[in-house]
Amino acid sequence: MCGIVAYIGHKPAKELLIEGLKRLEYRGYDSAGLALMNGDLQIVKAVGRVANLEAKVAKTKNLHAHMGMAHTRWATHGGVTEPNAHPHTDDKRKICLVHNGIIENYATLKKVLSERGRTFHTETDTEVLATLIGELYEGDIEQAVQAALREVTGAYAIVVWCSDEPETFIAARKGGPLMVGIGNGEYIVASDPSAIVAHTTQAFALEDYNVVKITRDGFRTSTIDNKSVSPKVMQLEMDLEETELGAFEHYMRKEIFEQPNALRTTFRGRIDLNEGRIVLGGVAKFAKELVKARRFTLTAQGTALHAAMIGEYLLEDLAKVPAECEYASEFRYRNPIIEENAVVVAVSQSGETADTLAALQEAKDRGALALGVVNVVGSTIARETDAGVYLRVGPEIGVASTKAFTGQVAVLTMLALYMARRKFMSPYESAQLMRELEKVPDHIERALQADSHIKSVVEKHCAKENWLFLGRGYNYPVALEGALKLKEISYIHAEGMPAAEMKHGPIALINDGMPCVFIANKGRQYDKVMNNIEEVRSRGGHIIAIATEGDDAIRDLANDVIFVPDVPEPLSPMVTVIPLQLMAYHAAVIRGHDVDKPRNLAKSVTVE
Ligand code: G6P
Repeated sequence: MCGIVAYIGHKPAKELLIEGLKRLEYRGYDSAGLALMNGDLQIVKAVGRVANLEAKVAKTKNLHAHMGMAHTRWATHGGVTEPNAHPHTDDKRKICLVHNGIIENYATLKKVLSERGRTFHTETDTEVLATLIGELYEGDIEQAVQAALREVTGAYAIVVWCSDEPETFIAARKGGPLMVGIGNGEYIVASDPSAIVAHTTQAFALEDYNVVKITRDGFRTSTIDNKSVSPKVMQLEMDLEETELGAFEHYMRKEIFEQPNALRTTFRGRIDLNEGRIVLGGVAKFAKELVKARRFTLTAQGTALHAAMIGEYLLEDLAKVPAECEYASEFRYRNPIIEENAVVVAVSQSGETADTLAALQEAKDRGALALGVVNVVGSTIARETDAGVYLRVGPEIGVASTKAFTGQVAVLTMLALYMARRKFMSPYESAQLMRELEKVPDHIERALQADSHIKSVVEKHCAKENWLFLGRGYNYPVALEGALKLKEISYIHAEGMPAAEMKHGPIALINDGMPCVFIANKGRQYDKVMNNIEEVRSRGGHIIAIATEGDDAIRDLANDVIFVPDVPEPLSPMVTVIPLQLMAYHAAVIRGHDVDKPRNLAKSVTVE
């Protein structure tokens, strides 16, 4: 979603800000802008890609400064236009500001400010915040920002500049992530560490309702009520090479093919075959509470929700503990009942998804033990949970999540085995499954070899605008994920559902040649899935089956078969999802779409 980079120091700010924005591009956006401060305030904005802004900046004279702020905007209030792009100023051009998030009471504030004679030139909530700060300014910008933030409701990560204090930035946050990188006589404020690490690895994350005043000589952090706070400075651990494309054409393809090694890293040091135990240092402190847990609630959004659904099946199937999975956006508002000894698990790649974070806080407030299954180290969800397990799959840049999904499922599988072994499972039984778990990366490698066959299957069907994805048991969430991947990047309408549910309505959709993808690998419900395939086939649907190697019988039923290695059923989602990821990838490429930056989507959804 929206991205922020701001710089104050001794380097030329223009190049640094553009480079920073490029590192944030993967988050998803539709316009960009920057402001440079060199005694004067100069603002350049462009609709579309950062490259458009870069071209405009190159044509603008005298953009030399050692201080500036930049932004990528993902439209929420007001269309995708240059005036609506950030940075925004108040009507007197005294205040300049970039903002991520949504000011929920902006309409009321705008009315009051208009009555006081302030004028507005955009449709954004951000301009209202800039104007409010301007209105409250009485000679101290830090105080004006604090006062304004006491008036607003909603979410914000902001950087503010005032022409009366031209060598100062004020940054603040509630909800959206914001970090301050500390260099040598320079500071970089950014919504994502990837825009900081090229310059410094020392940084701190702003906490909710915290404000920081930054000059070249130092910084001071406080709350919006002006109470002094001390930030926890940390070492950023990010290898910039991991965020480079290398020989791959797209990040999504790179990340799909990274999965075998990514999962090897996820498992490293966590599978103890001698003791038949899973070792999860991040939750060890709460081992007793986990064993006593009466119910697990897994909560997430998007792809992470599909991984969490698989977690629900795994916890009940392997660890025999009641589990439920729910959209975080629903859970947070439905007055959920949290019983004694309840555990909530927030599953999130970014660790910043607004709804997931809010659901987690709601469950914590009601007394649940909070666990995180998160990829980004030090992210807000990782910090807010009592304990957790990191995915360790490395930075995921492609908007359509792939390696984070298999990483999330891998961690949830380990969590289920961790619990099972502590509750009732013998070392022998547990070691047997763990041995199979260790082999999953090799099986993924094998599944990836079907790449060109998958491409040829997709080539035949990708002009079709409606697809179904069907599966039972563990394969139901896999079907949902297959459908989500396809619609996200190829813009084909796809629905995933339990194979049995099809008879209750969706079967009416099936017409001649409609692609119906069945996840039909060997498992407890294999025979029932075969019946569902027959039902679709007899109505003219085109069957694409994901099947277990050696299952020759399925060739008679399906029009196209994509084989995957034989894997124990609870571990199979990490393998059966691979052909679905590749199908979506090829469909998007063939249809000519921007695979890594699909329209309207954001990598990290930091507004609700
Ligand atoms: C967005 C992304 C999805 C992601 C979802 C949840 O919609 O485009 O790929 O699955 O957010 O994100 P999280 O970072 O919490 O896993």
